[in-house]
Amino acid sequence: MRRIYLDNNATTPMLPEVFEAMRPYFSEHFGNASSIHHHGQETRAAVENARESVAALLGASASEIVFTSGGTEGDNLIAGLVKAGDHVITSSVEHHAVLHTCKHLEEIGCQVTILPVDGCGLVDPDDLPRVLRPNTKLISIMMANNETGVLQPVEEIGKIAAEARILFHTDAVQAASKVPIDVNRIGCHALSISGHKMHAPQGVGALYVRKGTKLQPLFHGGRHERSRRAGTENVPGIAALGKAAELAKDGLVREDDRSLAALRDRLEREILAQVDDATVNGQGAPRVPNTTNLRFDHIEGESLVIALDLKGLAVSTGAACSSGAIEPSHVLIAMGQKPDQARGSIRFSLGKQTTEDEIAYALSLVPETVARLRELSPTYRRHAVTG
Ligand SMILES: Cc1ncc(COP(=O)(O)O)c(C=O)c1O
Repeated sequence: MRRIYLDNNATTPMLPEVFEAMRPYFSEHFGNASSIHHHGQETRAAVENARESVAALLGASASEIVFTSGGTEGDNLIAGLVKAGDHVITSSVEHHAVLHTCKHLEEIGCQVTILPVDGCGLVDPDDLPRVLRPNTKLISIMMANNETGVLQPVEEIGKIAAEARILFHTDAVQAASKVPIDVNRIGCHALSISGHKMHAPQGVGALYVRKGTKLQPLFHGGRHERSRRAGTENVPGIAALGKAAELAKDGLVREDDRSLAALRDRLEREILAQVDDATVNGQGAPRVPNTTNLRFDHIEGESLVIALDLKGLAVSTGAACSSGAIEPSHVLIAMGQKPDQARGSIRFSLGKQTTEDEIAYALSLVPETVARLRELSPTYRRHAVTG
């Protein structure tokens, strides 16, 4: 069966160049990057080259990059920016890696304010001054949402944070490689990225930490990563992340994202033209070029995901970890949708490898599958009779 993968926000396939960049560090160059002998020096050079490449992608200095095990670890590290008694501001549409870290911070004595979003999924920066407190220490608001692709006004948020002398962290896991990132324009003190969302492997990521920002480490041990993250470095993963960062930077300069956006827009436009009662979640807000989240009234998103998978098309209802769960998406609920509406939504996320032909194939499957599922839906039949 032909298989089309449109779930790149869950994870991306590794690019061949990325795999080649990491391969030697599994076998020939196996040294511990902390060893002072030749073997260690070889892997140390690979780690430091990768640090330069990741820094270049983010507009940062190499010394500001801390390698991590991925986006979840980077987001958890915001706990190292605050202490009990501090106030933290976040948003209702964050990934659980941030929301659950904030929950943990509350349990250990921090105060947390969760900002609402509008119907497009956007935080209003004007809400920030109203919720600031004398003990506000940190704002954590994501750059791009994993479910809708909506881009938050991080530069405006960064300005407000700077005026109020508050730390600002942004989860850029779904933004890196899709839109340009410049930590100085954003004015953030910390920013997380994840390898497997940008064609590097799972289990590696990075946290940008602005020079002079005090970060209490989560892991205790050796003095790796300038004492910000103990543990022997994952050299193959880091080498891969460095290569992926280089390729992402080249792609952004060549504006590859424009052709990705054209494919996404075609998919979106043609589905909307062929399917009644379908809407784009987050329409009207700026979005990353690869993502569209569509709501199909009168069907269960999970059933549509399964029906499409049986025909070879991989899509998702949103956050990968919630696949298979009955809970409606917290992101779509925060955007004001009713649970039934949220449950009828699915996410298509394209990747660098997605072709025009694959989009045409997806278009040959989606409208017909939605129509078939609706025929089986009691609410749709009632709607068809009454309306
Ligand atoms: C916005 C966002 N933040 C954080 C994460 C967690 O990243 P990782 O899978 O590398 O732990 C994800 C993964 O889906 C994400 O989409």
